[in-house]
Amino acid sequence: MIQPFYFDTPEQTAHAITQRLIDHLEKAMRPFFLAVSGGSTPNLLFSLWGNEYADQIKWQRLHLFWVDERCVAPNDPESNYGNMKRRCLDNIHIPSENIHRIYGEAPPELEADRYSLEVKNLLPVKQGIPRFDMILAGMGDDGHTSSIFPGQTQWLTEKKPYVVSVHPVTGQQRIAMTGTVMMAADELIFHVTGASKKELIHAMLHPNEEQKKLPAIYIAQHAKNANLFCDMPA
Ligand code: 6PG
Repeated sequence: MIQPFYFDTPEQTAHAITQRLIDHLEKAMRPFFLAVSGGSTPNLLFSLWGNEYADQIKWQRLHLFWVDERCVAPNDPESNYGNMKRRCLDNIHIPSENIHRIYGEAPPELEADRYSLEVKNLLPVKQGIPRFDMILAGMGDDGHTSSIFPGQTQWLTEKKPYVVSVHPVTGQQRIAMTGTVMMAADELIFHVTGASKKELIHAMLHPNEEQKKLPAIYIAQHAKNANLFCDMPA
């Protein structure tokens, strides 16, 4: 099941997620493993982290990973890493060894395997599955999450932590965290804001049979501990 948390604005939603992260980092007795997503929703969050919260987040305790990456170079405007770097990483004091980016410029299949191994080597692994402390996921207008698009059901339960997926419209290759890893996270947060997502937010909480097959909703429904942070009134 997924627990919803409602806020009035995208700003309040981003502040609430940040506060939750700060609280976890205060208590963390070991490195804290966080994975962030791309797309436009987290832009506000990353800008807050790079400015207002730059000195409040215990960056030394945080190991930063990505849920997914587009197969492009880091300086490409499509790069999820490049986007976060400009908004946040360039402005904060985080040890460079704590930043674990996906090499979007590398051959995709090799990179999916390399990054899967990096994640498995650094994170606690239980029953073969690496366990993130927190994953910040988005949801696309078509119900995708990570880069698992509707119909790509094989990536929901795939055993590998990361795979190569293909955007169904543009054909762009992506490196995507699988549903298996997302569902096993200690805390999976769906960060979803904006009027265009209103129906999908409702569907995430009360899905019909068809909606249950959408990747974001399937993962939300089957996750060990999923929360929805959104700006939609109940
Ligand atoms: C990406 C993502 C993706 C994103 C959703 C939502 O690289 O595109 O990580 O899963 O979270 O597409 O994107 P928006 O926030 O732009 O709606």
